[in-house]
Amino acid sequence: MPGPSVEPSVEPSVEWSVELSRSVLILECSHRAGGNSDAAAELVARGVREAGGEARVVALRDYNVLACLACRACAKDKKSACVLRKKDQAEELFALLLAAPSVVFCSPVYFYALPSLCKTWIDRSQRFWEARRKGDAWLLQYPERQGFACLVGGQPMGQKLFDGARLTLKYFLVNFAMTLAEPVGFRGKDERGDLLADPLAVDRALALGREAWAAAQGALK
Ligand SMILES: Cc1cc2nc3c(=O)[nH]c(=O)nc-3n(C[C@H](O)[C@H](O)[C@H](O)COP(=O)(O)O)c2cc1C
Repeated sequence: MPGPSVEPSVEPSVEWSVELSRSVLILECSHRAGGNSDAAAELVARGVREAGGEARVVALRDYNVLACLACRACAKDKKSACVLRKKDQAEELFALLLAAPSVVFCSPVYFYALPSLCKTWIDRSQRFWEARRKGDAWLLQYPERQGFACLVGGQPMGQKLFDGARLTLKYFLVNFAMTLAEPVGFRGKDERGDLLADPLAVDRALALGREAWAAAQGALK
């Protein structure tokens, strides 16, 4: 995965303790900065803040994440640790997700699926799948939270345009005790600026921010 080649800025942990942040986590998943899904992310953040909440916007493309080796070491390891954990920043992103009172994925559709940078990170969560399968207490202690998605496609048509991304996000988030709400999907947004030029899309993204903050407040109670 391209991105800055930097060492992890925090010592990656294997087991996390529950400490929820007060900020809704908004993940920008596009490979293109300043495009439609980034615009959606900014609107979602604005919706959160206008509702009185806090939002943290994070671009996945700024993180260095290596591909899962499918080595199955996490299946065998007592703590389900990943052999790559000190080599990149995947665990930093997982730490943000674990601490999030709610999360919003803002992503374009690439070939009916999530962009490869995002999917590469998701594949690295295999160790959380293993930890959950084994019933590891540190993971099971996390409270139930809500996940959201704002998906953008260039094509105006396509009944199943958002299905690939929706299913991947749904089963990814389960391992983090998060339930995915029905994604908000925008069709026919291809050029930079297309989403911002659509007042209905702008309103829907702002409303999504309010929904994400309401869900976060439920988790923070
Ligand atoms: C590699 C790639 C694959 C794409 N595949 C699809 C697709 O399957 N369906 C679709 O509607 N749009 C597709 N698009 C168009 C993008 O979804 C669209 O341009 C979107 O606005 C990009 O979001 P961004 O501005 O946040 O980067 C694709 C774009 C790229 C670069």
